Amino acid sequence: MKIDSQQNTDRIVLIVDDQVENLQIIGNILKVYNLKKAIATNGFEALEIAQKIKPDLILLDIMMPELDGLQVCKKLKENPKTSDIPIIFLTAKTQEEDIVAGFEAGGVDYITKPFKTSELLSRVKTHIELKIQKDIVAKQNESLKELIKEKNELMAIAAHDLKNPLQVIIGFAKILEDRTNLLPDNEIAEIAHYIRISGEGMYRIITDLLDLNSAEENQIEFNIVLFELNELISGIIDKYSVACKEKNIKIHFEHKNKQIHIQADPTRVMQVIDNLISNAIKFSPFDKNIYIKTRIIERNEDTNILRFEIKDEGPGIAPEDMDKLFIKFAKLKNRPTNNENSTRLGLSIVKKFLELMGGKIWCESNYGNGATFIFEIPQKISNTKDRD
Ligand SMILES: Nc1ncnc2c1ncn2[C@@H]1O[C@H](COP(=O)(O)OP(=O)(O)OP(=O)(O)O)[C@@H](O)[C@H]1O
Ligand SMILES: [Mg+2]
Repeated sequence: MKIDSQQNTDRIVLIVDDQVENLQIIGNILKVYNLKKAIATNGFEALEIAQKIKPDLILLDIMMPELDGLQVCKKLKENPKTSDIPIIFLTAKTQEEDIVAGFEAGGVDYITKPFKTSELLSRVKTHIELKIQKDIVAKQNESLKELIKEKNELMAIAAHDLKNPLQVIIGFAKILEDRTNLLPDNEIAEIAHYIRISGEGMYRIITDLLDLNSAEENQIEFNIVLFELNELISGIIDKYSVACKEKNIKIHFEHKNKQIHIQADPTRVMQVIDNLISNAIKFSPFDKNIYIKTRIIERNEDTNILRFEIKDEGPGIAPEDMDKLFIKFAKLKNRPTNNENSTRLGLSIVKKFLELMGGKIWCESNYGNGATFIFEIPQKISNTKDRD
């Protein structure tokens, strides 16, 4: 990044000199770069202002009464709040020991009086540019730290969620190992069933994490084809028939017998709808209804919108949870009502997939009165053959 006279209005240089005319001269010279200036006429004032406004550069006179420039510099370097502000000394002499003392105190450069405009400008320019670079690196460091923290959290949660099913698998495998000959076939089949369910649970957590990762990195390839949506939805509903029966939940699919052909990636659309249906079942109490609707809305000459709606009679979403709904691993009030799995990754994947398909998702809910999740995916007109 280059210092640019149009862009430096937020960069501040603190000028410290007990001679007012010097402050004026330097202030005028700095106008070339559009830098903001602050001034201090003694060392104490300089320390106070530096701490308060955190300038990007300090031009510091060495020879000042009471607290001289070298002492001010040392104090600034000792204070973590001001220690990284670059300091250029202003010195009347070019005596070697003065210059060495300046560098030892923590200065980055020096300028001799009387000032040459070009010299002052080029030194200020160099150090402001360095400061800008340093700020960029510091920011990048911060976001890297944030990223590492997030990845660590993710690892901890994933490891925690994988541990339970793994323990089930190990436990049942041990039973089989110890008592193979004593167990009747039906018990072996039951154990195999739990091992499979646990394995599938682990597999799903891992694929969810990989999917989310690819989606966040924009590395998902969508396989866009023309397919019939309502049949796909009926298939997902069938998959959950046992879970629904257990909780006496009835799914009403309004457009079951109509056809809606859409152009999208059927696997990803299936993942999206699967999660929404599983959520509606998972968070609803027993003996409730779920209503699903699909339709094509005409938007403009060349775009239609596919709209999917799923409404349940569950707890709804607490107002304070609304913002966290689509955030991975966020802790929300609602918990599964029949001991179902909950990794809290589903909706974040759903949102990301829909966004990558050019669509969007939102939730409407009166807390205590169920929730409706709605998503839309735009469709080029030639791709949507069936209207509502
Ligand atoms: N239909 C719903 N009714 C009430 N709360 C819901 C509903 N759908 C989602 N939630 C809340 O939002 C949270 C996040 O949903 P999400 O689908 O991301 O996670 P999950 O279903 O708990 O786990 P996963 O989908 O990864 O198995 C849920 O844990 C639940 O608290
Ligand atoms: Mg879910």
